[in-house]
Amino acid sequence: MKIILTGSTGYVGSKVLEQCLLHHEVSSIIALSRRDLNIADPKLRVIIVHDFAQYSPEVLSEIDGADACIYCLGTNVPVRPPELNRTINFDYAIGTAKIFAAAFMENKSRGKFNFVYLSGALPEKDQNKTLWFLADNRRMRGQLENALLQLGQETKNSGFEVYIARPGFVQPEGAVLLNWIVGKLSNAIMLHHLAACLLQLAIDGHSDPIAENNILNAMGKLVIDGQGTSG
Ligand SMILES: NC(=O)c1ccc[n+]([C@@H]2O[C@H](COP(=O)([O-])OP(=O)(O)OC[C@H]3O[C@@H](n4cnc5c(N)ncnc54)[C@H](OP(=O)(O)O)[C@@H]3O)[C@@H](O)[C@H]2O)c1
Repeated sequence: MKIILTGSTGYVGSKVLEQCLLHHEVSSIIALSRRDLNIADPKLRVIIVHDFAQYSPEVLSEIDGADACIYCLGTNVPVRPPELNRTINFDYAIGTAKIFAAAFMENKSRGKFNFVYLSGALPEKDQNKTLWFLADNRRMRGQLENALLQLGQETKNSGFEVYIARPGFVQPEGAVLLNWIVGKLSNAIMLHHLAACLLQLAIDGHSDPIAENNILNAMGKLVIDGQGTSG
C-alpha cells in the first residue's frame, strides 16, 4: 500500500517513517515535508511542501493512488502568535484532510482511504467546558477534532475514513526505570507502540474513529508482539 506521511522529521513521525520503511505491507511512502529527510530508501519519496493548507496539482498527482495518510505534523506547545498557532495546528490539518477527501472522491475506484490524525489526550472537544490550563489551545485542537470527525461522518460511506489518535505522554525507548515510573504514574505510551498503532490504523482502520491512550496502548502492544517488530 501507498502511505502519505506528514511530520516525518518529528519525534513521533520519524518513528512512524522507520516502521513504514520496515513494514511488508507498505510499498511506498510519500513524505510531505518542508525540508529534506536525507534518507535514501527505494520505498520513500520526499515532496517539499511549504503550505499544508493547499496542494498544487503536481503534488496531488504524486499522492494519487495513496491508500492512507498518517498526519503527524503539529507542535507540542502552542506557537506564538496565536494566528500562526492556528495555521499550523488547525488549518493545516483540516485543510489537508479536506483536500485529500476531495481528491479521493474524484477517483472512487481506489476503494478506501484512512486518514489518521495524531492528536493528544489534552484537546477538549466540549467548547463550553472550563479549562484551567492551555485553555485556548486545547479548545482549538478540540475544535479541530470535531471538524475532522464531521468530515469523517460525511465521507465515511464513500470509503474515506477519519481516525484520531489521542496519546498521552509519549515515552522514549531506553531509560527503562524512568519509563516504568512514568507509565505507572501517568497516561503514557511508548513511542514505538504509538507508531505501530498509527500504522495499524492506516492499514486496517478501527471500529471507533477515536483511539484514546488505553486503546492505543493495547493495540500497539498487540501489533508489536504479534509481528515481532521491535521498532
Ligand atoms: N511528543 C509527545 O509526547 C506527544 C504527545 C501527544 C500528542 N503529540 C502530538 O503529536 C504531534 C507531533 O508531536 P512530535 O512530538 O512528533 O513533535 P515534533 O517532534 O516537534 O515534530 C513536529 C513535526 O511537525 C512539523 N512541523 C511543525 N511545524 C511545522 C510547520 N510550520 N510547517 C511544516 N511542518 C511543521 C515538524 O517539521 P520540521 O522538522 O520541519 O520542524 C515535524 O516534522 C503534535 O501535534 C503533538 O501535539 C505529541
